[in-house]
Amino acid sequence: MLSSSANIRVRRGRTSDAGALADVFSDAWHTTYRGIIPASHLDLMVARRGPQWWRHAVRARPGLATLEVNDEVVGYAMYGASHVKGSRRGELFEIYVEPSYQGLGFGEHLFESCRHRLDLRNLRGLITWALEDNRRAMDFYWRRGGRPFAEVQDLVGGRRLKKIGFSWP
Ligand SMILES: CC(C)(COP(=O)(O)OP(=O)(O)OC[C@H]1O[C@@H](n2cnc3c(N)ncnc32)[C@H](O)[C@@H]1OP(=O)(O)O)[C@@H](O)C(=O)NCCC(=O)NCCS
Repeated sequence: MLSSSANIRVRRGRTSDAGALADVFSDAWHTTYRGIIPASHLDLMVARRGPQWWRHAVRARPGLATLEVNDEVVGYAMYGASHVKGSRRGELFEIYVEPSYQGLGFGEHLFESCRHRLDLRNLRGLITWALEDNRRAMDFYWRRGGRPFAEVQDLVGGRRLKKIGFSWP
């Protein structure tokens, strides 16, 4: 349940969002992956996704949605046709909400908005991936009805991490 006084909007990203998106990414990644991804690699990943990276991403990726609350960008998601060959499914590539806005229903709003946009593109079903150690994301997808369908091992910054694929019919 979202606060009825908040003005919430999910819209396509703009180049003027680049600074805010870089901040959301940095804050969410440091909070979520500290202790999971080796610190030096985490810093490297965050440094790569500075405002310049985001300026390019919003131009290049039609499936980049920003979440605005009271005119402030506090989250984003990237979605599109799945990269899995031969699949006609949609995929949620990334979803991140600024830590101080998490647990208030905003992630659910953003998630449902992406699902709706993918449905309009006639993609059958949805998949997404989460690191097994990212309990918050694992629980979030489970409670939204996603069920594990695959697991892979990824080498991230020299550490072997298990990634779980979730699917929705
Ligand atoms: C995972 C993530 C996107 C979820 O977004 P979120 O905003 O935290 O999630 P929500 O608040 O929408 O949903 C969490 C719960 O809060 C509940 N909730 C909704 N409104 C609420 C409110 N006003 N107050 C308290 N709780 C509320 C929701 O119902 C939901 O409960 P449920 O899952 O048991 O149904 C977000 O936590 C995040 O960015 N995490 C870090 C990055 C990350 O892990 N991304 C995914 C990578 S795979």
